Amino acid sequence: MPREHKYPFLPYAPARYPEPDMITKGRDLLCLMEKRRSVRFFSDEPVPRECIDLAIRVANTAPSGAHQQPWKFAVIGDAATKKQIRLAAEVEERENYEGGRLTPEWREALAHLETTSDKGYLETAPWLVVCFAEKYGIRPDGNRRKHYYVNESVGIACGFFISALHTMGLVTLTHTPNPMSFLTEICHRPGNERPYILFPVGYAAQDAEVPDLRRKSLAEVVVESPGLIA
Ligand SMILES: Cc1cc2nc3c(=O)[nH]c(=O)nc-3n(C[C@H](O)[C@H](O)[C@H](O)COP(=O)(O)O)c2cc1C
Repeated sequence: MPREHKYPFLPYAPARYPEPDMITKGRDLLCLMEKRRSVRFFSDEPVPRECIDLAIRVANTAPSGAHQQPWKFAVIGDAATKKQIRLAAEVEERENYEGGRLTPEWREALAHLETTSDKGYLETAPWLVVCFAEKYGIRPDGNRRKHYYVNESVGIACGFFISALHTMGLVTLTHTPNPMSFLTEICHRPGNERPYILFPVGYAAQDAEVPDLRRKSLAEVVVESPGLIA
């Protein structure tokens, strides 16, 4: 019996795989994603712009509240703007690290990453991509349109973006200099957009290092439904 719709609908038949192939595909993806790391040492080697556009297109496939896709990605590749962003980020980060704006608890949480107010990678990386979250939309008549689940939606899109870069052999850092309102001005973004994450993107430097972090095990992150516990 065909369903009746008020709006257009399409048949959807996603790929299905035999069970062994499902497991293999899942394991392959896990193996790839386990190797992803946030990188703070970049090479200045150029990266094709197409890779950036592909990663943004992948991000743009993310689910979003009411399919409002409340994101914008500003792409910066010129040295002057990168420098401007680095200097502005370092002003804020110096306040955090040296000016006492970081609470002792925050400082303690960050200690093992050995991050500092030096954000040289913002100039070294060939690309900076700033994701902006649209707090609300603008209707054609200029009125505001409410956006739903903006934070969740943009967070998922950024996850897709990071995964796409990693799949292409590129690295990035989820960078959130705090506060980051300077990015609105530098990127000439309107008032309905809020800077969400600043991503330097490129190849890892040959001598790049990352903190030796341990990820939680499956048992630490899974809780069984009470109905399943005997
Ligand atoms: C929302 C968010 C904000 C972050 N902000 C910063 C940041 O401002 N500076 C930084 O160096 N790393 C930042 N990170 C990176 C984390 O430190 C990093 O993801 C974490 O240490 C785990 O390392 P991994 O990404 O290599 O697994 C941020 C990560 C997330 C998810």
